[in-house]
Amino acid sequence: MNTKTGTNIDEAISLLRSGEIVAIPTETVYGLAGNGTDEKAIQKIFKAKKRPLSNPLILHFSNLEHLSKYVKNLPKHAKILAEHFWPGPLTLLLDKSEIIPDVVNAGNRRVAVRIPNHEMTLKLLSKIDFPLAAPSANLYGRISPTKVEHVLNQLDQIIPYVLNGGECNNGIESTIVGFDENSPIIYRLGAITVEQIESCLGQKVKIHNHNIQNSGPDASGMVKFHYAPRTPMYSIEEISTKEETSNFGYIGFDTLNHLIPAENQFLLSEEGDLRIASKNLYHAMHHMDQKHFEKIFICDFPNEELGRSMNDRIKKAIAKFNV
Ligand code: TXA
Ligand code: MG
Repeated sequence: MNTKTGTNIDEAISLLRSGEIVAIPTETVYGLAGNGTDEKAIQKIFKAKKRPLSNPLILHFSNLEHLSKYVKNLPKHAKILAEHFWPGPLTLLLDKSEIIPDVVNAGNRRVAVRIPNHEMTLKLLSKIDFPLAAPSANLYGRISPTKVEHVLNQLDQIIPYVLNGGECNNGIESTIVGFDENSPIIYRLGAITVEQIESCLGQKVKIHNHNIQNSGPDASGMVKFHYAPRTPMYSIEEISTKEETSNFGYIGFDTLNHLIPAENQFLLSEEGDLRIASKNLYHAMHHMDQKHFEKIFICDFPNEELGRSMNDRIKKAIAKFNV
């Protein structure tokens, strides 16, 4: 199958209406979208990504009114967060209504929903009367795409169309929040920080322990290996001064590492800005993965604000190489 790239929203819509899947831009990462009410389209998404059916998808809407038809109720805290952060990089886990086929959310009681903040995709969503189910547009376990070229590197010839909406502004996935007996819990750290959620709700919020596997809903946030490049990647803490470093790469925050050749390094934000670093994180991982280094080393961030979300992704990307 030839993969076309373009900015034609109507072309994307006609493919989606006919049950096809299309990569779409969002403010976080590119998504691989299909009609969220069409079981066959959903199956195509799982197949294209090689993703296990046990890992549920997020439904995307253009407005709260449309979204409300697909969930049973909106708890008080969910309403406050929705009004404050949508459109934006927040996903809420809500009780699903029967219209949503079970394949979307692996038969869970709850479904993940969000209103993304990307002009082109909001326009597309406002022209259709069904939600778009969309996981990140990467192969299962690999690095999420923040540019069209990242999508094509993994899904060229596999999907018919990539809607080109430029670079994703946030560059890291949405923050997932669920509610247990009405108390909010963060299920995946992401582009909206814990501090932002807590300040919006005026209370401390629990973070679901990502290391506990096979308990509760199956979120890829809880799978140990994820977001991984093919080149072995390690924390910069692991580098040994005895190693020959000429074929090592380094992804740093704002400061070069003196052990690795400067030309092998990618700084995420020379000005030390966490928002810029998060926008660049996956791009840096994709870019360095293509350089054929023997090993890639990566920095870690102070465990606060976006640094905490980036540390989460980095930890999962390097876990694969530290077994
Ligand atoms: O920023 C984002 O959220 C992007 C863009 C495209 O919207 N999407 C995204 O989707 O990151 P995906 O499928 O790559 O990650 C969604 C996460 C997975 O870890 C999934 O397991 C979790 O959400 N999830 C979805 N539905 C869930 C549910 N009902 N209960 C628990 N976790 C759920
Ligand atoms: Mg993903």
